[in-house]
Amino acid sequence: EKVAVLLGGHSAEREVSLRSGTAVLNALLDSGVDAFGFDPKLQPLTELVSSGANKVFIVLHGRGGEDGSMQGALQTLGLAYTGSGVLGSALAMDKIRCKRLFQAQNLATAPFAVVHSEDTDFAQLLADLGGKVMVKPANEGSSIGMSAASNVAELEQAIKTALVYDNEILVERWISGREFTVSIVNNQVLPIIEMRTPRDFYDYEAKYQANSTEYLCPAPISAEQTELMQQCALQAFQAVGASGWGRVDLMMDSAGQHYLLEVNTVPGMTEKSLVPMAAKAAGMSFQQLVVAILSQTDA
Ligand code: DAL
Ligand code: MG
Repeated sequence: EKVAVLLGGHSAEREVSLRSGTAVLNALLDSGVDAFGFDPKLQPLTELVSSGANKVFIVLHGRGGEDGSMQGALQTLGLAYTGSGVLGSALAMDKIRCKRLFQAQNLATAPFAVVHSEDTDFAQLLADLGGKVMVKPANEGSSIGMSAASNVAELEQAIKTALVYDNEILVERWISGREFTVSIVNNQVLPIIEMRTPRDFYDYEAKYQANSTEYLCPAPISAEQTELMQQCALQAFQAVGASGWGRVDLMMDSAGQHYLLEVNTVPGMTEKSLVPMAAKAAGMSFQQLVVAILSQTDA
């Protein structure tokens, strides 16, 4: 067995992927797996075929790696890969289609609108969504291009910012509350993590740069809430056709109601990332986690 670890790539999350991919590659090598790193931004994919790799561990985040296109290419090349297939990857990348699927299955998610241009009635949009909103490019990760808005000027700026990254923008009613994440490995849920940040939300800086972010695992919520949230996460994961491993992000408001944010099919895998943290709480080391994800690879 020879494993190519795909890392880097072209997306806005390239830097995160380089960190995740390096950690995964090192863990595989430490486990005695014959593995090497492959950056599709620097090398044409055809070189992967001649490399002799027969399995691919995808640690690319965002477009071109997490969105189904790489999965389709690998499938066409006859290479087995980790994680979700083409459909699950493509759907999970698209926050708007995800939310429609959640709604179709009565899985709670915040009310939202879709915007395609700056030619929008901002005041009406804001009023319709309760006065404060979160603005997100439909297909991004790591909170890139996201901002909160609670007046027309802020909303206009937030949409302008998001349009730099995507031509489809999700505007969600702001949920005031706590942020959680549910990791899934081998289609099993791991202990929930609560992320606490003094910042306005768990943004790029809170995720990768700030020392002020606190992580609580297992999350300090009741057994009943834990069960409900894990069930909801697993249903969301399955609703979008994801499989293998991933991470589902949720929020909980002050009334204890949880809301789905999104499904990540190639979540961060730096040694400080959330899935490794949840795995550790379940008694699984980073190496064991990486080997478990690899073991599920199918063509
Ligand atoms: N998109 C980042 C890598 C995550 O979900 O962890
Ligand atoms: Mg994401």
